[in-house]
Order: sequence, then structure tokens, then C-alpha cells
Amino acid sequence: MLALKEKLTDRGDPLSIINNINSKSVAVKNLEKIYAGHNGKQVKAVDTVSLEIKPGEFMTLLGPSGCGKTTILRMIAGFETPTRGDIYIGSERVNSQTPDKRDTAMVFQSYALFPHLNIFENIAYGLKIKKLNKTVIKEKVEGILDLMGLNGMEGRAPNQLSGGQQQRIALARALVMEPSVLLFDEPLSNLDAKLRVYMRSEIRKIQQKIGITSIYVTHDQAEAMSMSDRVIVMNKGIVEQVGTPDEIYNKPASRFVADFIGVANILDAEVMAIAQKSITVKCMDHLFDVSTTLNLQAGDQIKIILRPEAVQIGEAGKIPVIVEESVFMGAYQDYKLVVNGQILMVIDYNPSQKTVFAVGDKAYLTINEANLHIVKG
Ligand SMILES: Nc1ncnc2c1ncn2[C@@H]1O[C@H](COP(=O)(O)OP(=O)(O)OP(=O)(O)O)[C@@H](O)[C@H]1O
Ligand SMILES: [Mg+2]
Repeated sequence: MLALKEKLTDRGDPLSIINNINSKSVAVKNLEKIYAGHNGKQVKAVDTVSLEIKPGEFMTLLGPSGCGKTTILRMIAGFETPTRGDIYIGSERVNSQTPDKRDTAMVFQSYALFPHLNIFENIAYGLKIKKLNKTVIKEKVEGILDLMGLNGMEGRAPNQLSGGQQQRIALARALVMEPSVLLFDEPLSNLDAKLRVYMRSEIRKIQQKIGITSIYVTHDQAEAMSMSDRVIVMNKGIVEQVGTPDEIYNKPASRFVADFIGVANILDAEVMAIAQKSITVKCMDHLFDVSTTLNLQAGDQIKIILRPEAVQIGEAGKIPVIVEESVFMGAYQDYKLVVNGQILMVIDYNPSQKTVFAVGDKAYLTINEANLHIVKG
């Protein structure tokens, strides 16, 4: 960030989007949205959601289609009125403010560029409405194009750009307004898979350079994991978990989160004994000592989350299994195993260097107890 600031100053550029953006926190408290749906049936799209997003943080709202992500984003932007609850940007309660007063800018899935305006005019549009003078507008538009590596495209029409370039222009158009908060609603969904991956890191780099508070909506868990400081996992209008990518993957708060993020074995287990630092559970007919923050008692039926890559398969080990499926995937061997009647998915990386087991073979598992994570049954 410093190097870039210096670069802009060196050139004698008096304007720096980086210096002018004043990132703010965002908080929602007990936010609820009930839509009057068709035939008089109400839809509770958002159900008592409370969240805090720090200044400069990249926070992602992640969850399946219809879980209320867009509705939360639109309420923060002011396009939708909450049925109940409060929204704060910085220390200010903004419920009664119109969208243009809220100091947020939104980037949409559809880019929403004006087709009849060229790139310069598209980016300058909001600044003109703000009635800034021509010289300032020119400096700001050039500054943001420079910052994003898009110089030279000013005269083109949106349809003369690739999807990825159009989306970067849409981001430039949002950033040039120097908002305190950037809102993204599935901005990469229209791009092909390879470009999507590239754009993830482009957006993240620009966001980090500027240090702007960002709230990003997606149903793509890889996008959420790779871009975010923290992720909010939502399901049916409620928040299931808020955590870093590491926390939601390795310490999912619920069965839903474990299942939604990556691939998970969700195994039946029973609490056998409680000790001071760990509890003993019976799972796949074996005993394991597992640590947990949950308040459990002997006899409780629980679920154990075990990621497929966290298991070692070999010719010796503690737990005997029978191989039901064995598929070579290049980077890994994909196994489906049967352990005391339960199916277990196991991924073994770099299989060319290891013993590969075939369907019907007997093999053994080694499981590090630190990789076992308990959720309530
Ligand atoms: N204007 C509306 N009127 C009635 N119901 C609505 C309206 N907008 C959204 N809904 C409903 O509210 C729920 C949440 O919708 P929302 O668009 O917030 O979901 P989402 O998580 O963004 O989903 P997606 O990933 O498909 O974009 C859904 O059941 C949806 O059908
Ligand atoms: Mg949506």
C-alpha cells in the first residue's frame, strides 16, 4: 500500500483513491426481513441476524441459494427496508438514510455498465451526478484506471471488453466514488471458471491495497475461502457460523457448516466418558479422545466431523477397513471405505508414490485425534 501511495505521489498525482477512502465498520443488530410473498404467504428471508464487520475487513456472506444473502446486502445498501433491526455504518445508525447517503457502493453480478457510454463515461457517471468539476473527474477516473491496471480502455464501449475486464470496470466505477464500504453480490458468477479464479485474487489484491471494508456475497465456498478475512455461513435466513476460513473448515459449528464447506464425513458417535481436557467417544466401534468446547455428557449421541484428507490409509494401522470404491484422480486417490458398517470417504494425495488399494482390498486407517471435531447430533 505504501509503495503504491508513493508511486502516485511521485507522479505528482494529487489524488489518491487510497488516501481518500475512509473505511468504516458495518454492524447489523437483530436484522429481520419478511417479504409479503405471493398469495398472501409471507417469506422470512432474514431471521434475527446480528453481525459486526471491522473497518478494512473482507467479510463474505456464504450460503445456499435463497438463504438471504442478497437481502442482507440490499438492506445494508438501503435498497430494501428491514422489517426489524438496526443497521450501523461506522457509529451511525443508517436505517432511515436513502442509499445515496449511506456511503456504500455495490458491484453486481451483471456488471450493470451502461452500454451506450464508453468506459471513461461509465466510471465518471456517479462523479458527474455529484457535480464534481471536469478536471477533478478526469483525475479521479485516470487515477482509478491506473490503480487497477486498466489504462488505455477509456474510449471503448463495454461490449468491446471481456467479461473479466467489464467486471473490473464495474469495480472501478464503485471505487471511484470513494465509498466507506464496498458491497459485492456474486460479482464473478457470469465469468468462466478460469477467469473466476483469476478475478478472485485480483479483487482481493485491490481490496487489500486500498484497505476498504468489503462485504461479499457468494454461494461458492472456494471463493469465500480464498478471498475472505472472515466468512458468515448462512442457512435459511439465519447465521450458522462466523469465522475465519480456517475456523469454518476445521471447527465447523454445526453439521450444516461441515457439510456445506468442502467434503466431510459426518459419523455417528457416542460420548463414553468425560475427562478434564478431553472426552472419550466411541465412533466406528473404536474409542477416541477428542477435545471439544461443547458441554456434553456421557451417553450423548453426537456427530464427528472428519475430513477425507485427514485420514491415513495404509497396510498397517489401528482401524481395519474394506475398500468399496477406489478412483484415481491424478493428484489423489479417492476412496470409499466401509468401517463397521459406516461409509468413510478418504482422499490420499500423491498416490503414485504409495500403495494403492483396489476394490475389495483390506486396508488400515490411522486417524490423528486432533482431526476429529464434534458437533451436536
Ligand atoms: N422481493 C421479494 N419478494 C418476495 N420474496 C423475496 C423477494 N426477494 C427475495 N425473496 C425471497 O427471500 C428469500 C431470500 O432471498 P435472497 O435473494 O436474499 O437469497 P440469496 O441467498 O441471495 O439467494 P441466491 O444465492 O439464489 O442469490 C428467498 O426465499 C427469496 O425467494
Ligand atoms: Mg442472491
